[in-house]
Amino acid sequence: MNDLSKAGTFSLGNHRVNRIGYGAMQLAGPGVFGPPRDRDAALQVLRQAVAHGVNHIDTSDFYGPHITNHLIREALSPYPEDLVIVTKVGAVRGEDASWNPAFSREALTQAVHDNLRNLELDTLEVVNFRCMLSATQDTAEGSIEAPLTVLAELQRQGLIRHIGLSHVTPTQVAQGRSVCDIVCVQNHYNLAHRKDDELIDNLARDGIAYVPYFPLGGFSPLQSSALSQVAEQLAASPMQVALAWLLQRSPNILLIPGTSSAAHLRENLAAAELVLPEEALEQLDKIAGAGGA
Ligand SMILES: NC(=O)c1ccc[n+]([C@@H]2O[C@H](COP(=O)([O-])OP(=O)(O)OC[C@H]3O[C@@H](n4cnc5c(N)ncnc54)[C@H](OP(=O)(O)O)[C@@H]3O)[C@@H](O)[C@H]2O)c1
Repeated sequence: MNDLSKAGTFSLGNHRVNRIGYGAMQLAGPGVFGPPRDRDAALQVLRQAVAHGVNHIDTSDFYGPHITNHLIREALSPYPEDLVIVTKVGAVRGEDASWNPAFSREALTQAVHDNLRNLELDTLEVVNFRCMLSATQDTAEGSIEAPLTVLAELQRQGLIRHIGLSHVTPTQVAQGRSVCDIVCVQNHYNLAHRKDDELIDNLARDGIAYVPYFPLGGFSPLQSSALSQVAEQLAASPMQVALAWLLQRSPNILLIPGTSSAAHLRENLAAAELVLPEEALEQLDKIAGAGGA
C-alpha cells in the first residue's frame, strides 16, 4: 500500500484532498474516443486508485464521450464519502472524434445534466469550465464571463458545488474570479512546459489549487537525458521524478496523472514518497532551459 499522506493534502473547495489524484482520460479508447481496449482492466485501475487512497478523480463527459464517466460510476458507485470527482464542460465530441467548443447556455446546462446522470450524482462537486474559445488547442484570450455566469446560476440551483477553470490565461482567471469563486485552475504544465510559473505562485497565495494536465507530458510522456539521469541517481523511474518535481514545485499543485495501467498507477502513487534533493532540482531545470518551457 502506498502512503499518499507523505505528499500531503490541499484544499479543493470545501474538501481536503490528497495531492496525488488520478486523471481518467486515458481510460477511454484510442484518441480518447470509444470504449477502452480492456474494460475490466479500466474498472480495476479506478478501484485500485481509490483503494490506495486517491480521493480526487478528474474526468469529463467528453472522454469517450460519456465512457469514462460510465466507467467511474460502475467501478466506484456508491462513492466513498471523501471522493471528489471533478468534471469539465465547454466542449463536445463530433462523430469523427473531433473536439468542438460548446459553451452556449443550452450546451453548458445540458453538459451539467449529462454529467450528473452519467456519474449518478445529485450535485457535481467541482465543474471546470474548459475554455475553448478558439478552434485551435492554444489558449486564446477572450471573455469567459457569459459561460461562467451560466455555471454560477447552475451552482445557485444546487447542481454544482464548486467552479474551476481549465485552459485559461491569467487574465481569464482574474475575469473568472470576478464572476464567481474559483477553486482550481487546470492548465498544461510539467517539467518541460513551465509557462504558468507566475500564475501558480499567485494562485498559491490565494489558496487556489493548480492542477496541471499532461503532468507526465501527455500522449508522448516526457523523455530527456537529465530526467533519466536524476531517476537513476535516486533509484526511481523518470515518471516518478516528474511527479515528485511537481509536488515540490508548489504546495497548491494537485496531481492527476493519467494511466490505463495498474502497474503505472502504483508507480505514480509511489511518487508521494520521493524527495528530490537540491542538486536534482538544478539538473531538472535544464529540461525547461532546453526549450521545452
Ligand atoms: N483540461 C484539459 O484540457 C485536459 C487535457 C488533457 C488531460 N486532462 C486531464 O489530465 C489528466 C492527465 O493528463 P494525461 O492523462 O493526458 O497525461 P499524463 O498524465 O501527462 O500522461 C499520460 C500518459 O503517460 C503514460 N503513463 C502514465 N504513467 C506512466 C508511468 N508510470 N510510466 C510510463 N508511462 C506512464 C500513460 O500511458 P499508460 O496508459 O500506458 O500508462 C499515458 O500515455 C487526464 O487524465 C485528464 O483527466 C485535462
